[in-house]
Amino acid sequence: MAGMETSVSELVDLEGRTAFVTGGAKGIGAAIARRLVEAGADVTVGDLEPGVAGLAEDLGATGVSCDITDTDAVRAALDAASADRPVDIVVNNAGIFPTTGPMVHATDEFVQRMLDVNVRAQYSVAREAANRMTGGGSIVNLASIAGLRGGANISAYSASKAAVMALTRAFAHELGPRGIRVNAIAPGIIDTPGVQEQMAPLRAGGLDIDRQIAANPVGIAGHPDHIARAALFLVSDLAEFVSGHVLVVDGGSTA
Ligand SMILES: NC(=O)c1ccc[n+]([C@@H]2O[C@H](COP(=O)([O-])OP(=O)(O)OC[C@H]3O[C@@H](n4cnc5c(N)ncnc54)[C@H](O)[C@@H]3O)[C@@H](O)[C@H]2O)c1
Repeated sequence: MAGMETSVSELVDLEGRTAFVTGGAKGIGAAIARRLVEAGADVTVGDLEPGVAGLAEDLGATGVSCDITDTDAVRAALDAASADRPVDIVVNNAGIFPTTGPMVHATDEFVQRMLDVNVRAQYSVAREAANRMTGGGSIVNLASIAGLRGGANISAYSASKAAVMALTRAFAHELGPRGIRVNAIAPGIIDTPGVQEQMAPLRAGGLDIDRQIAANPVGIAGHPDHIARAALFLVSDLAEFVSGHVLVVDGGSTA
């Protein structure tokens, strides 16, 4: 246990710890990988992005090609990340957020795909990681404020992220006795390549996207590093007594 005499720099020191970040080639995952590297962790990024090796290298991490829906690929990526050592930190970040559109038109295939990537695959990553966390550890799942409240045209995404929060709480109970803390982050809107891609049609229609991204009580645009700082807190010893928690990081927009 970190005691009262432990300094702040020691509390965030991840030297010697192995970390695996899914979807870390860009956006929020890349920002998290960068902060973990800065804190001293040995970080592996798993992503289906073809250029993952080079993108990860730019962050000071190792990149492995991995589609999280393929459990064999997840196992291979975790083996590469740990290299026979235990895994200490896993950030379950990879996810998809195509707009569902009106629920009366959503196809079964669409809903199934959303749940497969955002819920089932996150589950698989957590399970495979937990089996390799022989010395305790920390898992952080990326949820969303969309899982906390309703909203038109995002029903399947909202359901998937609410499920992520439910799994986070359940896993925290199951894995706590093994020294594994499990938490989630629920970001508000964050300016990432994925969000820009989703919003492109709205921009073309005249919507001021940048204004939209900064439409929160603190009035600043959500940046991937805002989420990375929260993730660093949750995986570090600063959060030694925090588990089963969903940390909302949204500039106060759901307050
Ligand atoms: N950006 C936001 O506003 C926001 C808000 C709330 C929650 N989130 C969540 O944060 C996470 C990251 O979002 P982002 O905006 O950085 O996304 P992004 O689309 O910008 O980047 C996602 C990364 O994940 C990778 N990826 C996607 N599917 C994958 C798969 N099956 N296997 C491996 N890698 C895969 C992509 O290649 C990409 O590198 C997601 O879970 C998302 O739902 C984002």
